[in-house]
Amino acid sequence: MKHINTVFELNGKKAIVTGGARGLCYSIAEGLHDAGAEIVLIDINRENLVNAAEALGKEGPKVHYVVGDLSKLDELHNVYQEALEKLGGRVDILLNGAGLQYRCKAEDFPLDKWKLILDINLSAVFVLAQLAGRTMLKQGSGRIINVASMTSFFGSEMVPAYTASKGGVMQITKALSNEWAGRGVNVNAIAPGYMETALTADMKEKNPAQYEEITNRIPARRWGKPEDLQGIAVFLASDASNYISGAIIPVDGGYLGK
Ligand SMILES: NC(=O)c1ccc[n+]([C@@H]2O[C@H](COP(=O)([O-])OP(=O)(O)OC[C@H]3O[C@@H](n4cnc5c(N)ncnc54)[C@H](O)[C@@H]3O)[C@@H](O)[C@H]2O)c1
Repeated sequence: MKHINTVFELNGKKAIVTGGARGLCYSIAEGLHDAGAEIVLIDINRENLVNAAEALGKEGPKVHYVVGDLSKLDELHNVYQEALEKLGGRVDILLNGAGLQYRCKAEDFPLDKWKLILDINLSAVFVLAQLAGRTMLKQGSGRIINVASMTSFFGSEMVPAYTASKGGVMQITKALSNEWAGRGVNVNAIAPGYMETALTADMKEKNPAQYEEITNRIPARRWGKPEDLQGIAVFLASDASNYISGAIIPVDGGYLGK
């Protein structure tokens, strides 16, 4: 066991971060990189991706990127292989963070949006975990960190596909952990609370009453910031969490406790 002061270090570790071109997962990638990890960012948005890789890679370990549409499940094998090659054939950390949201009354919710959200938020999470899991099981070690949500725990409103996908993320986190934790691969999830990002900006604009109601309900009295997720991500990626697997960890300013 390393000394407690060094147990959070990720020096020499290699990480894949999906959805890392902006928002929460960019911030998580920044945290992992600051802790010492070499990173491959995967995202659909080329422009943001190039800018993100450039900004992160200014100093410290290398930062690479792979452009990929995670809704195209048949292409995930190639996307993963490209990322793995950039890391020299080893991956220690997979952060499954890319996600999409669509708000609509349940009775009007379009089936194409339902399928798209389930593909990106749940099926791609499983397929990438499976691909990285195979590499990690061969290595005998690895960390898979999925990004869940408050809607993993409750249903919310106007987001039936998102809720279904994030409930699924919570459950596959436990299912994969059950099979892999004994073989060196820990699988956990971070469940962010209400966070200020582009994904939630429309709620602030379109439904200010709901925004206000949520803010008042959060014991910390504020929405989360992307950097609020860095500590937990580094913790779950590091030796400090060696005996933690199958956990869904809320980072929510106390929201779920109320
Ligand atoms: N913002 C919140 O309050 C909140 C709360 C709980 C969970 N989350 C989750 O955190 C994660 C990041 O959310 P965010 O708020 O930073 O959102 P964001 O929209 O800022 O970032 C999402 C990223 O995913 C990428 N992406 C979307 N579709 C993709 C696709 N088909 N292929 C590849 N990449 C794709 C986007 O280009 C973007 O860079 C998501 O999984 C989201 O569900 C967010």
